Amino acid sequence: MALKFPIFMDAQSTTPCDQRVVDAMLPYFTEKFGHPASRNHPFGWEAEGAIDAARQRIARLIGARDPKELVFTSGGTEAINLALKGAAEMYREKGNHIVTTAIEQRAGLDTCKRLERQGFEVTYVPVGSNGLVDVEDVHKAITDKTILISVMFANNEIGTLQDIAALGKLAREKGVIFHTDATQAVGKVPVNVEAMAIDLLSCTAHLMYGPKGVGALYVRRKGPRVRLQPMIDGGGHERGMRSGTLPVPLIVGFGRAAEICEEVMPEESVRLAKLRDRLQDLILSSVDEAFLNGDPERRLPQNLNISFAYVEGESVLMGLNKETALSSGSACTSATLEPSYVIAALGASTELAHSSIRFSLHRFNTEEEVEFVAKRTIEVIKRLRDMSPLYELAKEGVDLKSIRWKAE
Ligand SMILES: Cc1ncc(COP(=O)(O)O)c(C=O)c1O
Repeated sequence: MALKFPIFMDAQSTTPCDQRVVDAMLPYFTEKFGHPASRNHPFGWEAEGAIDAARQRIARLIGARDPKELVFTSGGTEAINLALKGAAEMYREKGNHIVTTAIEQRAGLDTCKRLERQGFEVTYVPVGSNGLVDVEDVHKAITDKTILISVMFANNEIGTLQDIAALGKLAREKGVIFHTDATQAVGKVPVNVEAMAIDLLSCTAHLMYGPKGVGALYVRRKGPRVRLQPMIDGGGHERGMRSGTLPVPLIVGFGRAAEICEEVMPEESVRLAKLRDRLQDLILSSVDEAFLNGDPERRLPQNLNISFAYVEGESVLMGLNKETALSSGSACTSATLEPSYVIAALGASTELAHSSIRFSLHRFNTEEEVEFVAKRTIEVIKRLRDMSPLYELAKEGVDLKSIRWKAE
């Protein structure tokens, strides 16, 4: 089949909406437009029924016992804000300490920074050079003032999958609430809030082939029952935790997306891992001084993140962007030209943090696309290096650190 350009391989910024999801949503914009809180007529009942069905589908996908444990939000960012701020405020009398990691997405990190300004203490546990947090380090960080542990399930840049079950077990033993930002994991890898002892879990529809603008926070109801201070006051929707009229079409789409993910996950994750491995092999076998970021095993099947020494990530993207959509660093921080804080947290040099490229595959990518993207990436890197005096010096055996760039 002829390739269609540009090829999208930036699916950890957002995924294309599945046509089956769009089809499920459409009637809820037009003939089925009722308000789910209208309790006294069929329009309301129909909308409420659709919300209930979606809740059940999402609950099933994450192994929640009761669909009522899901609180719909506008997306992952809001779910994370509600989890962290809501728990911090609710349990403030118990303690003021939060444990998280250095590689959380901005929604987690910036919320923690705000809580610090409000008097909370936050420990940012570092990760190893493979991007994994050591459970023992989290253990050591817990004090008698710790009320919350928040560790992301899968990293948005390097795809690393943390040992969530071990962290959940630790938090449960210590009587501390455990939140995970699972926006990149839900729908891609098995997630089970019961088996993994997760108390709060954030997810979003647009990273699992659903629409943008809707997400959910799982809030455990039993063993322990978790309570949160709401951030938005109003009509008391969503068990008082998030007021506001529910976006019925978006929630219906979210539910359908969850249903499809559950059905296809076993086959899809194997297929995408194979495509990703092919891409990785093609690139790493042709480009020298290219380094895989993250853990080669414990990562999302669709994620590949490579630093190419002596080239700027942004220049690689510019060389490719007419034909291929990739990303250098997190989509949410790529508006700035700061090096990736995630890659820097692995202990990489600033230069290597500047030269990381994220390839993230999705449901609709093909083998032909992978072959094309690999070929073009290799060409662009070679061209950029041919123009790089640093690369030339390094190839001549000059230790770049020994060079004095100006007369002293
Ligand atoms: C790990 C992670 N957390 C949170 C978010 C924010 O989710 P949303 O875009 O739905 O607000 C993202 C978005 O890409 C993400 O990758």
